[in-house]
Amino acid sequence: MTLKEINIIPEPANISLKEGAFFLNEQTQILTDVKVKETAEQLKQILSSVLGLNIPIEEYKQTNESKNLIILKRIYSEKHLNHEGYTLIVSQDRIEIMASTSKGLFYGIQTLRQLIPQDKVKNENLNLEFFIPCVVVEDYPRFQWRGFMLDESRHFFGKKVVKYILDLMAFLKFNTFHWHLTDDQGWRVEINKYPLLTEIGSKREGTITARQKALLCSEKQKIPIDGIPVTGYYTQNELKEIISYAAERHISIIPEIDIPGHTTAILASYPHLSCTGGSFDVSTRFRVHKDVLCIGNSEIFEFLENILDEIIHLFPSQIIHIGGDEVPTKRWKDCPKCQAFIQTKGLNNVMNLQPHFTNRIGKYLASKDRRIIVWNDILNDDLISNAMCQYWLNNFNLVLVHVQKGREVVMSEMNALYLNYPYKLIPLHQTYSYDPIPSDLEEKFHKNILGLEACLWTEFVSTKEILDWYTFPRLIAVSETGWTPKKKRNFDSFLKRLDNFLPLLKAFDVRYPSKEEFLQKQ
Ligand code: ACM
Ligand code: ZN
Repeated sequence: MTLKEINIIPEPANISLKEGAFFLNEQTQILTDVKVKETAEQLKQILSSVLGLNIPIEEYKQTNESKNLIILKRIYSEKHLNHEGYTLIVSQDRIEIMASTSKGLFYGIQTLRQLIPQDKVKNENLNLEFFIPCVVVEDYPRFQWRGFMLDESRHFFGKKVVKYILDLMAFLKFNTFHWHLTDDQGWRVEINKYPLLTEIGSKREGTITARQKALLCSEKQKIPIDGIPVTGYYTQNELKEIISYAAERHISIIPEIDIPGHTTAILASYPHLSCTGGSFDVSTRFRVHKDVLCIGNSEIFEFLENILDEIIHLFPSQIIHIGGDEVPTKRWKDCPKCQAFIQTKGLNNVMNLQPHFTNRIGKYLASKDRRIIVWNDILNDDLISNAMCQYWLNNFNLVLVHVQKGREVVMSEMNALYLNYPYKLIPLHQTYSYDPIPSDLEEKFHKNILGLEACLWTEFVSTKEILDWYTFPRLIAVSETGWTPKKKRNFDSFLKRLDNFLPLLKAFDVRYPSKEEFLQKQ
């Protein structure tokens, strides 16, 4: 066997092949530090569900000399300063996974899983046996933020699909799930204080027909809708269940409550929070909507703070996404309440309204020990200093200014990391070859680029099958950008390893497109 025959995605920072193999079978034992027993249970569960092997877990003792062991150990050494890093040593007698945290061990297990060949072999006693090549892997991620965003406003997929995505993210060593839960087309999170947000705001009559027209149409044009209702939301109990499911997989969930634009679902539920008074329907069409929250309304901050109180009570994430993208000022210009607010606060003009709003919400969340992240649309000189930015499109210079102030950015460059475009438009190679660190950025600021996040917007993604088609294999490519050292990334090598990796996705029931489809040329 040669190193070229080992196919791990994301490619580890360091891997070397040794002589021989370890034989994994029903006599193998898992030995674990008691402190990481839950991680050992996760390994046991994988070996059982994927390979059909039932392997016992015992407590690790320094003196254990026996063979045929998988040992999970927490260690503290120079090598394991990165809390997500791990060492995996497969030798003929034993497999050792070492890390300073259970998260590192968890990632070591994900790598081990890819080293196990898919074909089962029976040994002379007719036991199931899998041979694993002897290797030494010293691995750690390039970036601390390896994210995936799912838009569940435009279409609602529900708990089962979200757990499925979290499983796949964990397998690919992603650590951040950004959940776009609110938008013009639906509000998807139960808020006890404002029940109409879900009673009214989670239901729309249908979706505009004809993708082309939908993207071009203005608010005035009447384009037929398909008449297929889109409804659904998460109860707070379901959210808690999903948050803990993610935490078991070392994934942090960042909820997004998109304000003050993309808020038609709020306005349909509580029309008095608009500048005009309404009425509104939960939107059935896409693009930017001119009706936004009325910032001059005396109730608006209390309303949003009450919502955010429930959100931070549910979500342990220190970082809360408050959107801020694509907010037109037309309604604020014409609104006496907004104009009076501008006067009272000495804001001079309507352009200062959203920056003021964002900082006020940001300060409120800071008072609760949380930080905001916002889309780059709202970058400005006065943005509160602890705000993080997510870049997607336009005005990249402002992102560089933000970074040069020592502030933090996550990159979601639309032309590479938005997954909801046909492969003809954004070929796999374009996604793979994108690098989050701009080539002309001074090295001392590189650390301010926390990483990258792939986004799946779901205007035209209505089922799990369509979701799969756009997301895989693109998300696999993004996992490598997030994890693997830049100098080790290579598209040809990735494609070759992908051949081996894609069949592993069958265990998750992923319906990925054929190679002809995802490699098609522009
Ligand atoms: C966005 O795509 N509107 C952030
Ligand atoms: Zn107003």
